[in-house]
Amino acid sequence: MRIVVGITGGIAAYKVPELVRLLVKAGHEVRCAATEHALQFVTRPTLETVSGAPLYCDLFASGGTEHISLKDWGELLVVAPATANIIGKVAAGVADDALSTLLLAFSAKPVVMAPAMNSDMWAHPAVQRNLTTLRGWGIGIVGPAEGELACGVSGTGRMAEPGAITEAIANFEFGKTNFEEKESTNSRFRIQNSKLAGQRWLVTAGPTYEKIDAVRFIGNYSSGKMGFALAEALAEAGAEVELVSGPTHLDISTCQHINVHRVESAREMYAAATEVFPACQGAILSAAVADYRSAEQADHKLKKQGDEGMTLRLVQNPDILATLGTMKRDGQRLVGFALETDNELQNAEGKLRRKNLDFIVMNSLRDAGAGFGVDTNKVTILGADGSRKESPLMTKTEIARLIVNTVALTDTL
Ligand code: CTP
Repeated sequence: MRIVVGITGGIAAYKVPELVRLLVKAGHEVRCAATEHALQFVTRPTLETVSGAPLYCDLFASGGTEHISLKDWGELLVVAPATANIIGKVAAGVADDALSTLLLAFSAKPVVMAPAMNSDMWAHPAVQRNLTTLRGWGIGIVGPAEGELACGVSGTGRMAEPGAITEAIANFEFGKTNFEEKESTNSRFRIQNSKLAGQRWLVTAGPTYEKIDAVRFIGNYSSGKMGFALAEALAEAGAEVELVSGPTHLDISTCQHINVHRVESAREMYAAATEVFPACQGAILSAAVADYRSAEQADHKLKKQGDEGMTLRLVQNPDILATLGTMKRDGQRLVGFALETDNELQNAEGKLRRKNLDFIVMNSLRDAGAGFGVDTNKVTILGADGSRKESPLMTKTEIARLIVNTVALTDTL
């Protein structure tokens, strides 16, 4: 592919030569375009050497039409790092230098941006509004990641690593213009192929509710969004999906390749999952299953007993994932989730082995923007073969596609 790498003025620009090197190694032809500020962080000779082509930086070079020739040449424009400034300019349609003019000229072609900025700037409503506009136009947003920032604080705002950007580009959906009508949560990072045609996959999603009495239950904050996104990604890749979901407000009834089983408690989820698993090629268990339920469930409403406290006796629920691990036949793939707060990798690896899984998808509650209720997530996918893949912060739709590409579409294990 012919890729234009656009560079703006952030400290992460020093990683761009590595990004260009990885893209060239992956077989792409690369040309660079930079803002004047970018050249405070990375030099023209470096960019020209790694790309093997002259740098485009001056709007009036070559008679002022270079942005059009570069637009005609390029098949994809990747802006890395993308500052708050360039994001704002594109959202507002401003073209006042070489790169912003090229970005506007690129309107009919795919664009990917890897934002990088201070975490407070990232959190500003203007930046978030601009990103929603860009996503709505189909511009792919990769990252940013969480970690140490140049200003000395830790937070969300680090540019996604060059390897993660290269991977996101490999999963990018081409052939659409930027301005096709789309929901803003929709994205163009998609499934690589449709090898799953004719396969049946089980997905568990959402929380479980464990009844205490006629009006009360034990539950958790899971929204079901990750599991529903996984079901959609599998269906998009051609699979028939058995989606076993705990109580959520999400609706998926329009997709004919997803068969929804609504359940309430862990024991109902266990019954549905163990029933459909034998007919499936794989299962991804993303539900937040209650580990315990009340030992007794009253059919009436329990009344207060004087001024004393109340003791609720809990008993353990069956572990659906571990049970499927014992049922697993050769050729079936089993994928679990691990939501961890400490010793994340060690705990996740322990679960992978103990429950006889092929992959485990680890979320850390320490990552801002990951976990319950939010539309974004950031995961590490660990394989039984020792493989490890870290995602940048992306929408749950994008994360779901990455998971499906990794756990269902790779041959090696
Ligand atoms: N899970 C399940 N059935 C349960 C509990 C969990 O299928 N009764 C699945 C979840 O869907 C998830 C994975 O197991 O895929 C991890 O759940 P988690 O609660 O993190 O693991 P536990 O084994 O319960 O470990 P711990 O409580 O020690 O963290």
